Amino acid sequence: MPIELKGPEEIALMRQAGRAVAEVLDMMLQELRPGLVLKKLDDIVRREFAKRKVVPTFLGYQGYPARACVSLNDEVVHGIPDRRVLQEGDIVSIDLGATYKGFVGDAAITVGVGTISPVAERLVRVTEEALWQGIKAAKAGGRLGQISAAIQAQVEGNGFSVVREYVGHGVGRSMHEEPQVPNFGPPDRGPLLQKGMTLALEPMVTTGNWRTKKDSDGWTVRTADGSLAAHFEHTIVITEGEAEVLTLR
Ligand code: MF3
Ligand code: CO
Repeated sequence: MPIELKGPEEIALMRQAGRAVAEVLDMMLQELRPGLVLKKLDDIVRREFAKRKVVPTFLGYQGYPARACVSLNDEVVHGIPDRRVLQEGDIVSIDLGATYKGFVGDAAITVGVGTISPVAERLVRVTEEALWQGIKAAKAGGRLGQISAAIQAQVEGNGFSVVREYVGHGVGRSMHEEPQVPNFGPPDRGPLLQKGMTLALEPMVTTGNWRTKKDSDGWTVRTADGSLAAHFEHTIVITEGEAEVLTLR
């Protein structure tokens, strides 16, 4: 499948989907405290998405059983919001997707619960900064590899590792479109970035080795070495100038 360039009407719908994701992520963040049962976060999504007339993109995707992904500590992505309870010092990654009139917005954020360790603080900061370096590198006329290289440089320059087995992606009419957007690799690789390309950039970063393993639930991805992981994601559209961030909070 070729990469689909979106026009103004399609981007307008993605803006609506992106805004719903941003607003509801913010509401979820307000609830994070020791003692919170993760399932409550999914209940917020159900209620708030219904109000906004958007559909939870993740629910039922390849059988995924929830509306959001909530991943703790050594969990990288795709953790299930279930009966687990938050504890002081945890780091929590929340990943959320909304579909509005057939168009998708996808974003993720990692935050600490109460006081977290200095290395956890640094991991969260570096991962968010890596996402923004990727966004800054996402310019029409450049190559997709420039995004990958910018993210990798920020992460490895700070002594952390980039997950290889999961990558960012084109997004729009479905959650996963062409092209894949790796968070690593040389800048001169990949397709030329063009106005109207809509991409989900999503660095996944660990304090240890980049290798991951999947739990027996078939979803939860965690670091193979038990090190901490963080994940930030935005949906963006390539323009003539700076990329527009559709999931900005
Ligand atoms: N942001 C994730 C992604 O881009 C969300 C997928 S989770 C799933 O792949 F549960 F829907 F699979
Ligand atoms: Co994504």
